[in-house]
Amino acid sequence: MTTAVLPLDVPGIRRDFPALTTPFHGKPLIYLDSAVSSLTPLPVVERMSRYQSFEHTNVHRGVSTLSQEATDRFEEAREKVRAFINAPSVKQIVWTRGTTESINLVAQTFGRRNVHAGDEILLSAMEHHADIVPWQLLAEERGATLRVIPMNDDGELILDGLDDLINERTRLVGVTHVSNVLGTINPVKEIIARAHAKGVPVLVDGAQAVPHLHVDVVDLDADFYVFSGHKLSGPTGIGVLYGKRELLEAMPPWHGGGSMILSVTWEKTTYAPVPARFEAGTPPIAQAIGLGAAIDYVTALGLDRIAAHEHALLAYATERLQAIPGLRIIGTAREKASVISFVLDGIHPHDIGSILDHEGVVVRAGHHCAQPVMTRFQIPATTRASFAYFNTREDVDALVSGILKVQEIFQ
Ligand SMILES: Cc1ncc(COP(=O)(O)O)c(C=O)c1O
Repeated sequence: MTTAVLPLDVPGIRRDFPALTTPFHGKPLIYLDSAVSSLTPLPVVERMSRYQSFEHTNVHRGVSTLSQEATDRFEEAREKVRAFINAPSVKQIVWTRGTTESINLVAQTFGRRNVHAGDEILLSAMEHHADIVPWQLLAEERGATLRVIPMNDDGELILDGLDDLINERTRLVGVTHVSNVLGTINPVKEIIARAHAKGVPVLVDGAQAVPHLHVDVVDLDADFYVFSGHKLSGPTGIGVLYGKRELLEAMPPWHGGGSMILSVTWEKTTYAPVPARFEAGTPPIAQAIGLGAAIDYVTALGLDRIAAHEHALLAYATERLQAIPGLRIIGTAREKASVISFVLDGIHPHDIGSILDHEGVVVRAGHHCAQPVMTRFQIPATTRASFAYFNTREDVDALVSGILKVQEIFQ
């Protein structure tokens, strides 16, 4: 039985985003670039402003009431992240600057300890550069090799050969939960189960998943799960690394400095338990509190309702875009999040993006930090529209009119 999902109060939600009611090139702003970074709703901005104006000092350092309260707020935000992804313990939530830093952390600690000459790291063909380059750097250093799970022309991973790709040399599988270019929602639970059957841990890049899907790291059985605050209606400069406790505890420190130690002498330093071991220096406190507020915001809206709204927009946009002659959608997987990449015959995505911008429609144009995906589809770049809970069918209509205008100009 399916339960009906109440629709979102989109007009009410839009009032939380002042940018949407402020003229942009003299037109209303149509923001279709949430996959690059989502707009931040007022309650999140206000929570950060309150912290910064009245509550700010450093955390984990002072006996002052101010310091203790700042520490409490900061740690409450960690608890919000824990609950949001259903992690067993706050000790498994490490603050980072974002997805990219989370993956670099794992590569430089877990990776350096476990990857040796002749070993392999298996990545999917649709990874963002953030889940390629850190492994490439590590592989070069250790004499290891990267291998790739291929994908089909719809932008779905081909899992037939997965059990052969994962072999006794594989030290880690890295896979994006949702592709930032194709919108594909990957069957990460199945991939994890198949990797675990061979004793191989899996890192899931959840940067594009957490804004749209319920993520339960225990149900997925993910070994590492990473994401950024700014794609989840929160601020930039904050991200999360979730890891299984035994893996995190076995990992050596990465950045050294204050807060990550138990004791320091000139001869030797001993390190704090996780997660403090990975959080050297003053952390991004306002940003962590802001991410906590963003989690409150999307949780109050309801991820089910967000998903249903975005799914309806995706279906409508797909139908309307497919009807435009000369337009080809790149990424037609059966399971998709609200991302549509497309190419237009004879017109470069940068030109499309610039003309749309003057129409007030903000999209992304380029390789989206996923050049191997462009190579796979033999295209230099795409134009990408990505939808969030505050978008409407009128936004899709504006995109379509903008594209028709682009075609007119280039005729
Ligand atoms: C799938 C995916 N992974 C990683 C990243 C990198 O995120 P950040 O730049 O916040 O570190 C992005 C951002 O576009 C992404 O879409």
